[in-house]
Amino acid sequence: MTELRFPKLPLYQGWGRPMRVESTVDSLVLLEGTPPQDLNGAWYKVGPDRQFPTMHGDDVFIDGEGMVHMFRFDHGAVSYRSRWVRNARFLAQEKAGRSLFGEYRNTFQKDPLASEISGGTANTNAIFSAGKVLILKEDDLPYAVDPVTLETLGRFDYDGRVKAERLSAHAKNDPVADTVLTYGNQAKGDGTLDMAFYEFDRDGNILDEIWFDAPFAGQVHDFSFTEHYVVFGFFPLITDLETVKRTGRFYQWRPQHGMKIAVLKRYGTADDIRWFDGPPVSFGHTVNAFEEGSTINFDLLLSEGNWISFHFPEEGAAPSMPDPQKLKRIKIDLERNDGAYEITSEFGMVCELARIDDRWLGHPYRHVWMLIGHPPASAQAGPHQSVMAGVTAEGPGAGEFIDIFNSDADVGRIDLLTGAIDQYSFGPRTNVHEPTFVPRTPDSPEGDGWLLVVVNRLAENRSELAILDALNLAAGPVALYDIGVRVRSTFHGNWVPEETFRTRRYAMARVPANAD
Ligand SMILES: [Fe+2]
Repeated sequence: MTELRFPKLPLYQGWGRPMRVESTVDSLVLLEGTPPQDLNGAWYKVGPDRQFPTMHGDDVFIDGEGMVHMFRFDHGAVSYRSRWVRNARFLAQEKAGRSLFGEYRNTFQKDPLASEISGGTANTNAIFSAGKVLILKEDDLPYAVDPVTLETLGRFDYDGRVKAERLSAHAKNDPVADTVLTYGNQAKGDGTLDMAFYEFDRDGNILDEIWFDAPFAGQVHDFSFTEHYVVFGFFPLITDLETVKRTGRFYQWRPQHGMKIAVLKRYGTADDIRWFDGPPVSFGHTVNAFEEGSTINFDLLLSEGNWISFHFPEEGAAPSMPDPQKLKRIKIDLERNDGAYEITSEFGMVCELARIDDRWLGHPYRHVWMLIGHPPASAQAGPHQSVMAGVTAEGPGAGEFIDIFNSDADVGRIDLLTGAIDQYSFGPRTNVHEPTFVPRTPDSPEGDGWLLVVVNRLAENRSELAILDALNLAAGPVALYDIGVRVRSTFHGNWVPEETFRTRRYAMARVPANAD
């Protein structure tokens, strides 16, 4: 055994410092409020931790081995559990006692001991599909975990049905069809053009599968769907394996390419795909999409340039602050024949990790919940700081590493109908994880329900769980629990209602009363 040291780098300081602890807390302490009694189920969230410092030393903040977190709600009582995702990478490194991988997704830097092992980190999202809780990261296939113990059950290829080598971290439920939609990008390996779209029924059978070529190999982190279509954006964060080999960086920003949007017809073929071209914008996360006549409204957190800073603009160039993302609407008119799309609406604020009432995915909708940077973060990092920056701030607060782990953030909601913003701050030096909406009842109106939020108290080294009235965030939590341990920041997660474990039917996936 040799001692374990992490480099003294900003990445490993503050809230982002490695935690490396698996926690079990049987009953969280209720600090204030009255918990809703009908909120029964499990909330899974996934984020990275640091099993070991990478071979490269420094790293990007979105890297790190996957830790899955579960909050189990039972008539007001809540338990918490976190466990490593013991995938091939984790187990091989555990055996070696050190990291076997280098820079983010760079397979050329692998230790020979890992030559046959996927570098997949399983650190991004969790979804219930095919009767399993699946842990997702776009560089590998899902890993199934036990829904109660979180024990890792193994890599899951939908019983051999999925031929893509990897699936997206942003799989989504279609609330009307009660299906799961997802895709593989660079689906036949790093740098390949292969895109594979899948739709699964509740048992994991493939209902729809469309393979097609991307215009270039690059990042496709998220997507959207409507009742009849699926929308992908291809923006110029490019994977060029020769450049990866030379520079170490998996993506390079090459704005000479614009963003191309592909519209797939569900249950169609690759020949039905329509392509639309626009400027070199980019996005990490979509919000929703829906049809309006011949137009698809595609709502997303759009950056006018490179949305995430650590993917360098070009070989040898230094990273720059990313362009801030704002909630915008792209209109894609399928009757237009000039191959163009329009960016029509801007809803204002810089925000990240947005979610909606998932029962309205694919349909006209009204409410968006998200993280909004609050004034202390803005003062430190400039007026347009993105919470996904991942770079060391300049100016006031210089030297502080700003990312979703360390920046301050409030939870907010925007009403797309009125433009009103409903926001709640947990106070100075706090941030929140991506919120998740849970309806009060399966058939309650859009937005009528609860917003679940993990709150990091950065100065106090501890985390809390808040339940808010989703349509009145400003009123503060209706219940607030002390988790008892720090919860290292997570990226995404999903709620699984208790009855879904029995029926496999995604119980939130009732046909909304006003869905058209
Ligand atoms: Fe994401």
